Amino acid sequence: MVQAVLFVCLGNICRSPLAEAAFRAEADRLRLDVEVDSAGTGDWHVGQPPDPRAIAVARRNGFDIAHLRARRVGMEDFHRFDHIVALDRDNLAALAALRPEGARARLSLLMDHVPGREGQPVADPYHGDDSHFDATWREVTNAAAALAGAIRRSAQDEA
Ligand code: 4NP
Repeated sequence: MVQAVLFVCLGNICRSPLAEAAFRAEADRLRLDVEVDSAGTGDWHVGQPPDPRAIAVARRNGFDIAHLRARRVGMEDFHRFDHIVALDRDNLAALAALRPEGARARLSLLMDHVPGREGQPVADPYHGDDSHFDATWREVTNAAAALAGAIRRSAQDEA
């Protein structure tokens, strides 16, 4: 069964496009049948490509995210995605407030999927430098691997 996963941060130009790329790579490696996307709870950057520093850190790690364009989370996302995964608590709270009755999507915090990191945010690197973006990349790749493993186990349990 296809699982659809949406990663959500504030601007959809730094953390969530990196999470999207890291998760897509891990899902491909595990041969998981998934749809992956990302969005922001804010609308300042809608239509823009990822932050140049996010494009650069992805490129340093072998991925091209320059084609992505920021978009804002919409009500239809709660019906389209199985998992909506927030990068920090503020965005999780914003999603919980938007979530309509009877939504299909399960909301979670990305780091809740990483044993020992439950409840923690992926820090916003927007006001940081390349070293902050390197740290973001490490966190999202770790968490993406944990989340992909969890989705694979739940798919196996259902089979
Ligand atoms: P993101 O980072 O939520 O990881 O995409 C940010 C991008 C832009 C802003 C804040 C955070 N901003 O205030 O414009």
